[in-house]
Amino acid sequence: MKNIVELKDVSKLYDETVALGGIDLVIKKNEFVTLLGPSGCGKTTTLRLIGGFEQPTTGSIFFDDVDITNVPPHKRKVNTVFQRYALFSHLNVFENVAFGLRIKKLSENAIVEKVDKMLSLVNLSGFEKRDINSLSGGQQQRVAIARALVNEPEVLLLDEPLAALDLKLRREMQHELKNMQQQLGITFVFVTHDQEEALSMSDTVVVMQDGEIQQIGSPVDIYNEPINSFVADFIGESNIVDGIMLEDRLVDFAGSRFECVDSGFGKNELVDVVIRPEDLVLIPAEKAKLTGVVRSVNFLGVHYEMIIEAKDGARWLVHSTIMEPVGTEVGLGLEPMDIHIMKKVG
Ligand SMILES: Nc1ncnc2c1ncn2[C@@H]1O[C@H](COP(=O)(O)OP(=O)(O)OP(=O)(O)O)[C@@H](O)[C@H]1O
Ligand SMILES: [Mg+2]
Repeated sequence: MKNIVELKDVSKLYDETVALGGIDLVIKKNEFVTLLGPSGCGKTTTLRLIGGFEQPTTGSIFFDDVDITNVPPHKRKVNTVFQRYALFSHLNVFENVAFGLRIKKLSENAIVEKVDKMLSLVNLSGFEKRDINSLSGGQQQRVAIARALVNEPEVLLLDEPLAALDLKLRREMQHELKNMQQQLGITFVFVTHDQEEALSMSDTVVVMQDGEIQQIGSPVDIYNEPINSFVADFIGESNIVDGIMLEDRLVDFAGSRFECVDSGFGKNELVDVVIRPEDLVLIPAEKAKLTGVVRSVNFLGVHYEMIIEAKDGARWLVHSTIMEPVGTEVGLGLEPMDIHIMKKVG
């Protein structure tokens, strides 16, 4: 697939603040790319640079292999749904969505047809005449999405477009957005700090922290092969403990030696050992190298979430469909392939 947007060594400084270090990012045509990371990591800044609302301090931005670093926003084939969706409060729902089409001087018939189709896509048919201020936050958010999509941009930038929706509507809109993206053949650059949303919707996930890109990959790669403990922890709740890599495929942590599948570390190198809560299995304490006492049990609908406190004070998070009551001593079993060894960050 062809590249559509490319950032080359792009940084953004605000006085002392480094909002974005020098990042390199390639976005392919028709790709659904998600920027994922904690608050303040530079997601919005990246979108604003692609949209042309900010100038990079260093580096260049390309669109279809043409340098657009100095091209103003309205001349870029990009539309944005902002984090604070700036709707026109003096216009009704229909006119908000129609706004871009009127500027393009489309015929009234074409405008009505396109706006109707969009409003039905975002589940707002019948809301045409409603005042923007009379809508709920979630409805306003969907108007903002319709208003951007109706212009059929080549690239759509979406900054946390589903944040104001309740969980059920959010799930529905996730599916709808994904369908629209595929049907319309538009490249989506989507921002969220919700890891589940990122994993379920994207072709490619870009994990960011402190203005730097930590990892770029498919959802499966990012989940199964996180590059460091930051990504592992951010992508799914994980147990992360200090370990020592004794030799290839042998690691020492929590007072015992465990077989693992990783190699290529230095002898006795200090490492982060990452174990996902769903990979820890409750077994009888006498059969386990890892043991502890159940300190809390939460039922989360599909599984129990338990905290098991070991003698060394470590608290292991465990997800399991069976549970043991608080106070019980239990063992934790795990397979070599479920022990993920990561280089220490920094
Ligand atoms: N106009 C500005 N002036 C000064 N600092 C700014 C400006 N815009 C952003 N920053 C800083 O740059 C950093 C990155 O901000 P950005 O808005 O890109 O984060 P974000 O990842 O979108 O966070 P959130 O999830 O909270 O929206 C932050 O530390 C922020 O305070
Ligand atoms: Mg933001």
